[in-house]
Amino acid sequence: MTEIEKFNNEKQCNIQKQEDLKYLGINFLNNIAQTKYSYNFTWLGRPIIQFPQDTIALQEIIWEIKPDLIIETGIAHGGSLIFSASMLALLEVCGEINNGKVIGIDIDIRTHNRKEIESHPLSKKIEMIEGSSIDKKIIKQVIELSKNAKKILVCLDSNHTHEHVLSELKAYAPLVTIGSYCCVFDTAIENMPEGSFPDRPWDIGNNPKTAVLEFLKNNDSFEIDKTIENKLLITVAPDGYLKRVR
Ligand SMILES: C[S@@+](CC[C@H](N)C(=O)[O-])C[C@H]1O[C@@H](n2cnc3c(N)ncnc32)[C@H](O)[C@@H]1O
Repeated sequence: MTEIEKFNNEKQCNIQKQEDLKYLGINFLNNIAQTKYSYNFTWLGRPIIQFPQDTIALQEIIWEIKPDLIIETGIAHGGSLIFSASMLALLEVCGEINNGKVIGIDIDIRTHNRKEIESHPLSKKIEMIEGSSIDKKIIKQVIELSKNAKKILVCLDSNHTHEHVLSELKAYAPLVTIGSYCCVFDTAIENMPEGSFPDRPWDIGNNPKTAVLEFLKNNDSFEIDKTIENKLLITVAPDGYLKRVR
């Protein structure tokens, strides 16, 4: 057995031992529900509304898959777009892909955010589309822009209601290439205390996780990759890392 095989075996054993600690991750989420913890971070200068754990997981996915196109719904301040663009730039530097692109869709791209994203050194890798991610015209535009991509990764992080995420899954999951992922964020809402988001339409029973579970009932192209949440322990996307298997 090589050193790296030994290392990986040990890692898997440790991850299995973590099984009993899952409650810690859920407790963590429940305790920071009111503090807006996910707003605390930036990626290359732009606010990224993610948990650092999920960003590391995405880095691992992107290195493994080596997509040349990443499609994201939900831009906000642009941190996740800049993260994706930076990963594609690294893949290019490493000679793994050519001309990587990120497509970001948001119903409301605020002027100051657009300005900052457009003046970022990585902006050349980013195409922003303003409109609802489930608008037929927007979906058609994204499909058209995806035509020549070899490997596609999709991240859904916009409106977190059941109906919206289910519509996004139906529209964008088919673009995910086999072996790649559709990452659905904020599935954790289902595990959080009822009423954690009093000013939002989503809650227990109406959120990205319920959408994922309904989507998977009629779709055998995707499987939930539990290995990711098992190692993260703390994640906003339990049952949200969907791997396209066929
Ligand atoms: C959680 S934020 C996105 C965070 C971003 N992905 C990041 O990691 O920094 C959600 C965004 O979804 C956008 N949004 C809400 N409804 C939408 C819709 N119907 N279509 C597209 N975007 C939408 C909001 O305007 C908001 O900017």
